[in-house]
Amino acid sequence: DKVRVFAPATVANMICGFDILGFAVDEPGDEVKMYRVAEPGVRIRSIQGDDGRLPMDADRNTVSACVKMLLDDLGILQDIGVEIELIKHMPIGSGLGSSSASTVAGLFAINTLLGNPLTKEELMPYCVEGERLACGHGHADNVAPALMGGVTLVRGGEELDIVKLPAPKELYAGIVFPQVDVPTRDARQLIKEKVLLKDAVTQWGNIAGVVAGLFTEDYELLGRSMHDIIIEPSRAILIPEFYAMKEIALSSGALSFGISGSGPSVVAVTKGREVAESVTRKIQEHLSTNGIDSYRYVSAV
Ligand code: HSE
Repeated sequence: DKVRVFAPATVANMICGFDILGFAVDEPGDEVKMYRVAEPGVRIRSIQGDDGRLPMDADRNTVSACVKMLLDDLGILQDIGVEIELIKHMPIGSGLGSSSASTVAGLFAINTLLGNPLTKEELMPYCVEGERLACGHGHADNVAPALMGGVTLVRGGEELDIVKLPAPKELYAGIVFPQVDVPTRDARQLIKEKVLLKDAVTQWGNIAGVVAGLFTEDYELLGRSMHDIIIEPSRAILIPEFYAMKEIALSSGALSFGISGSGPSVVAVTKGREVAESVTRKIQEHLSTNGIDSYRYVSAV
């Protein structure tokens, strides 16, 4: 009895929709291999690709802690033996939903091993709890697209609506991850708690514009709407060369550019794969001349 599950990286916020919009990408992503074993208990067998940063203790590791929570709720925690191999293909603190991908893969794996007692919708609260354990706040804008795929909208407080949104065929994301570490926990502490009404109006107009643009396949509207005037100014200071990268993206044909999740990854949203390829190459060259190594990924939205 074993399963192997891949869960994708995700671009939370979709630039302007802080904590409510996000989309899954083709790569990178994390992998969980899960084994049923005779001896009861949940254990981590191995973790690869985390540079030794994640706990092996099953109560402290987010993936196993969420699996335990689910087994406990099903009333079978004492009876079942499960061992987990976690293979991380993306760095922690990258702004690509690294913790979410692992959590979602782990929960999907245990649900599959058990013969799918829960629907994806029923798995969601466990995923959100995983996010809370990982970074201190239970936002669902990474876990929702990691679990559901595509673009998702999260609305509501206690009772969440997870709404899948369409994406136009030619909408692409060019992602660059500058190799600096920005923990989500820290990046959330920088944000101002109060927002001016006029800024809120601009921002929620932009969010509505994104949603409408996705449905009507209006690339220009998407480009005009994907701007974040509330969060980005506070967080940009954590990201090296942010405004230079933005200038490069927007002058090279990207529809829009902003922070992926809580950074330091950045995302250029483009019409067509080629623009995303060339924009990310140019950004990577710029970073490299400034002594910063980076990874780049291109994916359909
Ligand atoms: N919406 C979250 C944030 C995503 O921007 O802090 C990061 O996990």
